[in-house]
Amino acid sequence: MRLENKSAIVTGAAGGIGAAISKLFAKEGASVVAADINAEGLDSIVTEITEAGGKAIAVPGDIASEAYNKELVEKAVSTYGKLDILINNAGILDNLTPLHDVEKDLWDRVMAINVTGPAFLSKEAVKVMKEQKSGSIVFVSSLAGVNGGRAGASYTASKHAVVGLARSIAWFYEPYDIRCNAVCPGGILTPLVTGLTPNDDGMKRYEPYLDTSPRFAEPEEVATAILFLASDEASYVSGVVMNVDKAWASY
Ligand SMILES: NC(=O)c1ccc[n+]([C@@H]2O[C@H](COP(=O)([O-])OP(=O)(O)OC[C@H]3O[C@@H](n4cnc5c(N)ncnc54)[C@H](O)[C@@H]3O)[C@@H](O)[C@H]2O)c1
Repeated sequence: MRLENKSAIVTGAAGGIGAAISKLFAKEGASVVAADINAEGLDSIVTEITEAGGKAIAVPGDIASEAYNKELVEKAVSTYGKLDILINNAGILDNLTPLHDVEKDLWDRVMAINVTGPAFLSKEAVKVMKEQKSGSIVFVSSLAGVNGGRAGASYTASKHAVVGLARSIAWFYEPYDIRCNAVCPGGILTPLVTGLTPNDDGMKRYEPYLDTSPRFAEPEEVATAILFLASDEASYVSGVVMNVDKAWASY
């Protein structure tokens, strides 16, 4: 098994990509701390994992809360004795809203959940990983983290921000053998996409380019890429921004 004796926090674990990561990690031997604001969804994923013989606990809460960020890392260490892996996956979309329609509330919510929460959760994780002199952090960014035309203004800015954060963590903590990488998924079939109610102007601008996108991926196709980056197989891979997009960015 590729994550034997590893403990891992996965945020957004009740949803599409996060649920797939949590199940795959548990199958590969990891002890998982499953985190999400959706407590009910989280419970059903944890039940599924434990019934299949895997190890997982549910720790529900809002990623934008600093107290919850601290609680997650404390729970990982008190339950499993250490923290090897952090997957910053929880995130929200901005309904493709172009800047002229962005209200301050939308901007603040997207930044709090997509950037500030993951940053302060990573801060807590890094403290533990520095002591251990080992660790692997993966940010789930987006093609909107490297391209301008994949979402609205707030989401695009937020996903570019975590790419920078991943590189900063990779550089600062390399002496402690903490690796940090980002993945940039293309279009993945999850509630984030299927539940989208797009902004009118955003959709008008976006629509002609939809034909350039390849087929939607299943969440598991992103989870396998993250598994590689999280595992010791990627021991010399850090500071990398990996597209998981079936060449959509190459168009
Ligand atoms: N689906 C795509 O096409 C796609 C493409 C590129 C990047 N992404 C990124 O992948 C990640 C996972 O998205 P997904 O597609 O699985 O979406 P999803 O909506 O299925 O899952 C996101 C999860 O995050 C949780 N969440 C939302 N706000 C939260 C908060 N405040 N605190 C804690 N948890 C919260 C949700 O409850 C949900 O379970 C996101 O960061 C998203 O931006 C998705």
